[in-house]
Amino acid sequence: MERYRINAFVARAMGISRRRADVLLKKKAKDFYINGRLFDGNLGLKVTSDDVVEFQGRRLRLPSPVYVILNKPRGYVSSLSDPHANKLVIDLLPQRLRRLKPVGRLDKETRGLLLFTDNSRIIHQLLHPKKGVEKEYLVTVHGRIAPSELDPVINGMDMEGYHSLPAQARIERVSIEESVVRLIMIEGKKHQIREMFARIGHPVKDLVRIRFGPLHLGKLKEGSWRYLTGTEIKRLSRIVQ
Ligand code: URA
Repeated sequence: MERYRINAFVARAMGISRRRADVLLKKKAKDFYINGRLFDGNLGLKVTSDDVVEFQGRRLRLPSPVYVILNKPRGYVSSLSDPHANKLVIDLLPQRLRRLKPVGRLDKETRGLLLFTDNSRIIHQLLHPKKGVEKEYLVTVHGRIAPSELDPVINGMDMEGYHSLPAQARIERVSIEESVVRLIMIEGKKHQIREMFARIGHPVKDLVRIRFGPLHLGKLKEGSWRYLTGTEIKRLSRIVQ
C-alpha cells in the first residue's frame, strides 16, 4: 500500500498544492485528527489510504486513481521531460492530466498503446517481468521473412548483456519488400524488439504496440487518448493483486 507524507495526502485529498497543505497543517494543526488522535504537528508523518485523516470533523479521502491510454504517434519521446526533445508524449494529454506517469516507455519511433496513471504502486508491478504482463506488437520489418527465421525470437536469443525470454511470434503478411510479424512478449527492455530483428537480418521499419495486458488499442486514433473503462481498470487491478 502506498505511503504518503501527510502534506501530500492532504494536498491530493483536498485538491490543493503541497505548499498550501503545509500551511494548513501548521496553522490549523488542531483541526486535524489522524486515526482519532489530534495531529501532533509532525510534518514528516506518513499515512496510507487506510489511515483516517480528518479535517474539521470530516474524513479526507484520496481521489480514485486515474488511468488513460494514449495512441502514441511516431516522433514523440516517452520521458516526462527531455531538454533535447521537442515532442513529448505528455504534451498530447490535456493540462489536468500532465501529472500522470507513463507505464514504461516506447521508443521515439514506436507507435501505439501507452498507459498513463497516477497510481505509482501499479506502475512498478505492471512492469515487473514476474507479473508476466503480455505486450503485443505488430512489427513491420524489411525483407521477406521465413517462419524459421523467427526461431531465435521465439526461443530466446543472445542479446547485448542478456538472453531474451521466449516470446510468441507469427507472420501476418509477407511481400518481397517487407513482412509483418505479430509479436507477444513479456519482457520490455530498451530497443529490444528493434535489436532482435536487426540481429536476425530484418531491421524494423515500423513498430506498433496494440495491446498491453488486458488493454487493447482498438480504434483509438493516433495522437488521441481516452480514460480506461471500469472493466479495464478491474482487469488491470487483478494482475497486481
Ligand atoms: N521494443 C522496442 O524495441 N521498442 C519499443 O518501443 C518497445 C519495445
